[in-house]
Amino acid sequence: MNILLTGGAGYIGSHTLIELDKAGHSVVVVDNFYNSQPEAIRRVEKIIGHGVTMIEADIRDREAMEKVFTEHKIDAVINFAGLKAVGESVSKPLTYYETNMNGVFVLLDVMRKHGCKNFIFSSSATVYGDPAIIPITEECPKGQCTNPYGWTKSMLEQVLTDVQKADPEWNVVLLRYFNPIGAHESGLIGENPNGIPNNLMPYITQTAIGIRKELGVFGNDYDTPDGTGVRDYIHVVDLARGHVSALRAIQENKGLAIYNLGTGHGYSVLDVVKAFEKANGLKVPYVIKPRRPGDIATCYCDPAKAKRELGWEAMFGIEEMCRDAWNFQKNNPNGYES
Ligand code: NAD
Ligand code: UD1
Repeated sequence: MNILLTGGAGYIGSHTLIELDKAGHSVVVVDNFYNSQPEAIRRVEKIIGHGVTMIEADIRDREAMEKVFTEHKIDAVINFAGLKAVGESVSKPLTYYETNMNGVFVLLDVMRKHGCKNFIFSSSATVYGDPAIIPITEECPKGQCTNPYGWTKSMLEQVLTDVQKADPEWNVVLLRYFNPIGAHESGLIGENPNGIPNNLMPYITQTAIGIRKELGVFGNDYDTPDGTGVRDYIHVVDLARGHVSALRAIQENKGLAIYNLGTGHGYSVLDVVKAFEKANGLKVPYVIKPRRPGDIATCYCDPAKAKRELGWEAMFGIEEMCRDAWNFQKNNPNGYES
């Protein structure tokens, strides 16, 4: 298929670009490099062995998006473009609502005009709020998000559901990601956060390499086996493969389809620290800190639906995730700047 990959220079997008190429799809990337660098695309080109069609543009720029659809035949859009920093979304809610919502509004409108009605959306486990059931199935009711970033995901899921309901020619796949970590096995591409990392794995790798003094473990008094938060970490390459599999739902004209993309295993913060130390033969100093506002105790999924309907399941375990995350960090101590 001919795929428009928005946000394709970012963390998940760059890995998905490789998997789409591997599966024989033809890809056009649109990215405004707000949270990424052209170097990521150059490195993908090195991995796949040929050039990438890369258009620098903002998905909110209607004229630019019209041009993309006029100049390229697009069968489906995979949308990664958007803002994702939870803390920043609390201090800049309007920026988050405006960027994430308008981006999708413009894309959907231009797609409709050009007769392309296949859309895969990057959603998040955050839409379940404090989940009503564990492991979380897709039938679990959505919950209260704790930040504007999460609400943009939840609200865009509703928008896309309504668009598909009003016009059944649309195929919409909502992919709810659990916690992507790790990197491509080459060590050429990986997660490259700006400033102090908010998420656990980049904080661990930056501590291991000496950029940060110690990891703060946010709370050890949760109702979990060791008191620290439990999450469903998934290797980013498995997540990327999930998008290739999601194209099957589009080819089968499923209409609206929702899938959890996770492994189904829950690991605590201390489990991850131990797994990282074991996989890489390193020590990660840590201190226990107070709980982080908005965090929940436990979040992991039941991934059976994606296996049943898409034939997808995660292949990598926590050891490979830790090994590949470190491989990227150690090869790129300053991210893509090095
Ligand atoms: P990322 O920031 O690395 O990638 C997003 C890309 O989109 C970046 O390259 C950025 O430059 C680009 N971008 C942002 N706004 C744009 C705009 N208006 N026009 C064009 N390009 C724009 O993030 P990621 O981790 O790869 O996440 C990709 C998507 O998956 C995001 O929508 C994110 O919310 C969602 N998601 C991520 C996670 C996670 O843990 N990483 C979890 C759940 C959902
Ligand atoms: C967070 C976001 C979520 C987003 C996801 C992926 C919040 C409340 N949720 O999920 O919306 O979709 O990232 O971007 O921010 N931890 C530490 N020390 C750290 C960092 C994290 O102990 O320095 C702990 C957290 O308390 C949590 C676990 O590690 O228990 C995972 O945290 P994180 O990687 O930030 O992911 P989530 O909180 O699950």
